[in-house]
Amino acid sequence: MLGGLAIMVLVGSIFFWKQLLITNIEVPFESPPRDALYRLSAYSVTERVADLLSRMTLQEKIGQMALVEKNSVHDVDDISSYAIGALLSGAGAKPNDNSVVGWRNMVAEFNRSALRSRLGIPLLYGVDAIHGHAGVLGATVFPHAIGLGATGDEALVEQIARATARELRATGIQWSFSPNLDLPQDIRWGRTYESFSDDPILVTRLGAAYVRGLQDDRGGGTTTLSVLSTPKHYIGAGGMVWGSSSNKAFKVDQGMTPEDETLLRTTYLPPFAEAVNTGVKSVMVGLNSWGNVKLASEKYLITDLLKGELGFSGFVVSDWYGVYEIPGGEYTAAVAAINAGIDMVMLPFDYKTFIKNVTRAVEKGDISEARIDDAVRRILTAKFSLGLFDAEEVNDVPEEAIGTPNHRALARKAVSESLVLLKNEASVLPISSTVKHIRVGGSAADNVGQQSGAWTVEWQGIDGNWLPNSTSILSGIRTRAKPGVTVEYAIDGTFATETVKAELGIAVVGEKPYAEGWGDTENLSLNASDLHTIERMRATSKRLVVIIVSGRPLIITDELKKWDAAIAAWLPGSEGGGVADVIFGDAPFTGKLPLPWPRSIVQLPLAPGGTTKDGTQALFPRYFGLRIY
Ligand code: BGC
Repeated sequence: MLGGLAIMVLVGSIFFWKQLLITNIEVPFESPPRDALYRLSAYSVTERVADLLSRMTLQEKIGQMALVEKNSVHDVDDISSYAIGALLSGAGAKPNDNSVVGWRNMVAEFNRSALRSRLGIPLLYGVDAIHGHAGVLGATVFPHAIGLGATGDEALVEQIARATARELRATGIQWSFSPNLDLPQDIRWGRTYESFSDDPILVTRLGAAYVRGLQDDRGGGTTTLSVLSTPKHYIGAGGMVWGSSSNKAFKVDQGMTPEDETLLRTTYLPPFAEAVNTGVKSVMVGLNSWGNVKLASEKYLITDLLKGELGFSGFVVSDWYGVYEIPGGEYTAAVAAINAGIDMVMLPFDYKTFIKNVTRAVEKGDISEARIDDAVRRILTAKFSLGLFDAEEVNDVPEEAIGTPNHRALARKAVSESLVLLKNEASVLPISSTVKHIRVGGSAADNVGQQSGAWTVEWQGIDGNWLPNSTSILSGIRTRAKPGVTVEYAIDGTFATETVKAELGIAVVGEKPYAEGWGDTENLSLNASDLHTIERMRATSKRLVVIIVSGRPLIITDELKKWDAAIAAWLPGSEGGGVADVIFGDAPFTGKLPLPWPRSIVQLPLAPGGTTKDGTQALFPRYFGLRIY
């Protein structure tokens, strides 16, 4: 009996001392008092982080490094029991009630579980607000980044990011995986429109403006961050070689960027370097490879270059399942990524195995505890910098901040500024007040879902007019047309009255929404049905304006000759009225092409420096755009 007791005491004390060795803390399993230093806002972020870190067990530290997709959390208490650090809504992952209240309640419920954990470390909740908080019904949907690139307007981009920050915080979210700083050399890539341009100078300028806007919206002189910005995808994304994708369904996305350090430093690095200078606290690494090495295991690029040379002190997060694309199985992949400098792993699914694997790796010495501490210190610093530990700083933006008239007016202005006038024969634009009969047709004329593109409510976008309070291009034209002007609409360009020619035809055509590798394509022509619509409208209108709604330049070389005017409208988002503002002359045409517009597919990929692959002239060079004031 006594012998048994002695064995139990011995085992118990070995367990206790083992915990001490692993965790370095005095009383590992008790909750710290309410006035523990890290809970007090009077101390600096550095002091609070150091105090909190010193109280954490190994498992709690590793939990902070896990970024889990919200639909993978089957028991909300897991967030507390596994001390999980961060959750995300993958594209299209929304609450059942997809309203501002629904989002707020969902995020709050997850966060309550985090706060119930021993140390009460709040959760970071991230979404891809890449053109506004567009997953939420009722949010303002701004033009996709390529349209903002066409505006070239830093102040506008900063304001848009500020508005996006407010809409995010209205739903209780303080983390966005944006801006996108990729440089699409090959516009056949399905992510071209997520980027501002293929010009590093423009991307650097607009990227920094976006970071400032997203992070600094609190006002009142506070240094607390508004929303954590995560520039992506570090690095070389946009330079992937056609046909090199590691995903068999894709061509460019997740492909291989040739290992060329000079190109890396002159082209891909500057936008990230500037984001770091602007005070960004988190960066996402891409799903592409650098030469043969997947980015998530690229120690030289992550640890030496980003953290060392650029002095980045924030945390590095991996993208989606990217870590597990490192060869060798889940254990080896996690070890390689964390040792390469990944601080937070977007798992996004199985957190239990991840925590087990990384714990084992530290116990075996495959990952040093110092590396874990460094990662967690970076993550906690971001959390304190956002004010997440200080109740008065959270949920300080009312629900009404979603989709406000001011935000919508800003989006409408952005649409106007983003339009690029490619051709304007006989000054058909702006539309003269003498024009009394207008016909409108084409697949994108009356379709807010199409004009918003992907990453709008659903990952691959939506079809039709079901975003609340939004305006299609057609409805903008109808509203603006003066009394006495007839506006007829037929999606396919067939009009009952067509024996009489209209003074003006406006064909609004373009691409259906697509996201990521699903938009990789070799065919950049207008689709057959849009081409028919244009033909019909050409025959029944004295003058024809074609508005192209697309995420990238399309090949229009042959058709353009038959049109009187052509406009690149990119993916304008929820405020289609911005198109009417410009074509009727209420706002000027000032947009400029953010990348060259190729003459034919054989000119692709574009070469860095804004030229084409074969050195022949593009149909329109980068920064082309006719101006009308
Ligand atoms: C994309 C990222 C995005 C992440 C989370 C990935 O598929 O590559 O850009 O941030 O999903 O939604």
